[in-house]
Formats: sequence, structure tokens, C-alpha cells
Amino acid sequence: MDEKNGQKSGFDNQQWFNRAWPDDDTRIPDWIYTDQDVYERELEKIFLGRHWNYVGMECEVPEPGNYIRSYVGPFPVVVTRDMEGILHVFENRCAHRGVEFCREYRGTANSFICPYHNWTYDLEGNLSAVPFRRGLGGRGGLPPDFDMAKFGLRRFSVATRGGVIFATACADMESIEQYLGPEIRKEFDATFDGTEFKLLGVHRNILPSNWKLYQENLKDPYHATLLHTYLTTFGLFVSSNESKIPTDESGRHGGLLSRRPDGRPDVSKEEQANMQAFKETMKLNDPRVLTYFPETDSKWSGSVLTIFPTLTALRQTNILNTRLLVPRGPNEFMMLWTVFGRADDDDEMTRHRLRQNNIFGPAGFLGIEDNEALRFLQEGLGKAIPREGLALLGKDDEPDDTIITERAIRGMYRYYRDVMEF
Ligand code: FES
Ligand code: FE2
Repeated sequence: MDEKNGQKSGFDNQQWFNRAWPDDDTRIPDWIYTDQDVYERELEKIFLGRHWNYVGMECEVPEPGNYIRSYVGPFPVVVTRDMEGILHVFENRCAHRGVEFCREYRGTANSFICPYHNWTYDLEGNLSAVPFRRGLGGRGGLPPDFDMAKFGLRRFSVATRGGVIFATACADMESIEQYLGPEIRKEFDATFDGTEFKLLGVHRNILPSNWKLYQENLKDPYHATLLHTYLTTFGLFVSSNESKIPTDESGRHGGLLSRRPDGRPDVSKEEQANMQAFKETMKLNDPRVLTYFPETDSKWSGSVLTIFPTLTALRQTNILNTRLLVPRGPNEFMMLWTVFGRADDDDEMTRHRLRQNNIFGPAGFLGIEDNEALRFLQEGLGKAIPREGLALLGKDDEPDDTIITERAIRGMYRYYRDVMEF
């Protein structure tokens, strides 16, 4: 107590560095975003645990012999399609000394040769050749009982649905269908509807922020109308649009679904007063970026799905993309964006999709604002005297049609706490 002013300080010394999660699921402690020990527990419990990790799209490896470099959590992997057309996911870490041997992001090969000592692996990850295996002139070389079959690359189990590839280290994993759950599977299938896709491009950017903050960002419809001028001003996501924020039973996956009205949105005075991001006078030089050609049976013109732990899948007007979150320690992650269209798109449609994709990416009309907000957020969490963030908006048992809510964030952290045993 400050005797002179009669004010109580707002600090509680005992709580500053306490690593106990408060017994209240509207409170999220800072240390889950910054602590190295928490990150290391995530590697075991989440990325190598009982989860399906998104690793790529089938349209990235359409032909036998195609491969891509990808990641399971932070761990580098290679995704291949073998000569029989079967997909494989294995470590990008040489069984010999540990080199991350596959250096190209994508390509076609019939084997992988580690650059260091040329140990060679086939498209399934089996060790197929070792130079000087028997030494030279009867001396040196590997022990005579060395069994090549035992020194292949460690493999992940693979599942696909609608052209999306998932991998898991878990030996007795449930099916991807069960993993998604019925509510999220329905929306997943509306985007990945069985048509053949074609790859339009990939971009990568690194964000100085914890990977979970990006999952939160896309489970946070509240920010969308407040931070994003482009979304609100051009009506892609405003509070008066018909919306739905579904989650699965476990709380780990979520969706932000929204139906854009034709033309500019009818934004009430009450909404405008709350939304500084709405700029009535702002116009687009090229309004074609907003044109929407309905192409699915879904009534939602915008669908963002967050599939725990590291996939976000987006269908917004005619933009189709996935984002893979690749953690790089507690304070940084890489985003790998895969932009695709449908195999039967004509050149005009392909140009349209690419034009619309300017909304996202490192400097997108909308992406740039999330990138900055998450950087500021990580700075706040990492530099300040620790405390807890609030996720108080909305109720857990109200209908899922309001966007002024943090219900999906609370749900994800209930699941997270459970898996992490906090
Ligand atoms: Fe790969 Fe030696 S580290 S062959
Ligand atoms: Fe955003």
C-alpha cells in the first residue's frame, strides 16, 4: 500500500513468475507463448503426439516421383509420391550423421542422395545404398552385420482427404474423418470437395510470434472487423454479415464462416461507430479483386478453418489456399502458403484467383495487419511483467452465429491444457 496516496499497487509479486494456469478458462497466461520448456513439451505432446499434422496438398505431388519438403511441427520431412502413386512422409534427416539432405523445396526424383557421404534413400525412405559399405581392400567399411533395412528414415503414417495430406507419428491414430469431427468435416468437405486442384504458387514468410497466436487469430472473429479495413470496408467480413463460428467437440478445430452480401455491405451507424477500420470513402482501383464467382454448394462465401495443430484452410470468394504453421522455437514461426485453383480453371480464372490472392501473404491487403498485430503481441508478452491475457467475450453456450466472441479461443485452450497436462 502506498501510504501517502492510499493506492494499492497493481502487482502481485507471488504471481509474476508463477507457472500455474489460473483456474479460469477466460485467462491465458503469458508463459505459454514464451517459455522454452512449454515449447519442448509441445513437441512431444502435440506435434509428435496424437494429432494429424497437415504436410501438403496432393496437387503439389501429382505425379510418381514428385516430392516436396515440408514439416511436422518444426521437424523437417519429405513428402513423396512413389512409382505406384502411394504417398510417403519421412524425416528429412539422414540416418547416418543427421544431415537435412533434401534441399530443394519441390521436384522429381527416384532417390535422395545425402550430400555429405552419399547415403541414398528410395522414395519410401528406405536406405538403398551406402558408398564403400565393405570398405576398400578388405579394410574399413561398415560392420559385416549392418542391416540396411534397419537404417531407413523414420516414417510417419499418412492420411488424405479431399486432396489434403496429413501425417502423424502416433501409431494407433484415429481416422482423419474422426479427427476432424462432423461439424468441421462438413465445412472441410465444402472446400476440399473432391475436385482436382492445381498448384498456383507458394509463398513463405517468417513471423516473430508464437505459432499458437496464429491459430488464435483465426479463431478470433472479434478482431476481424476491428483490425482489417479491407475486410470491413468491402464487406467480406462485417458484423452484420450472416456468420457462423463452429467448433468441433474437443474445441481444437474451428471455423469462421461468413456470407457476403452482394455489393457494399449495409453497415449500420452502430456498427460504424464501433469499427474504426471501416472507411466509407475508400475505393479500390481494381474492383475485380472482389468479384465472386460462386463455385461450391456452400452458402458461405468465406470459410476459414483452423485444423489443430498447424493447418489453416481458406476459401474466401475465389481464393483457395492453405497455410502450414512451422514453429521455430517459442518466439517465431514460418508460414508456408500454398495457393491453388481447380485443375479445369481456364487462364482467366487462374488470373482472377491470383489477383484475389493479393489479400494475403507477407504484404497482403489484409495479411500485413495480422503480421504486425502478432509481432506487437509477442513483444508485449515477451517484454512485459508477466500476467494473463483475457478471453472474456461471448458465452460458451450461446448460438454460434455471433462474431463478437472469443468462445473458440477458450475452447482451443481447454483442449490444449488437457493435452499439455497443465
Ligand atoms: Fe548423410 Fe553422412 S550424414 S551420408
Ligand atoms: Fe486477421
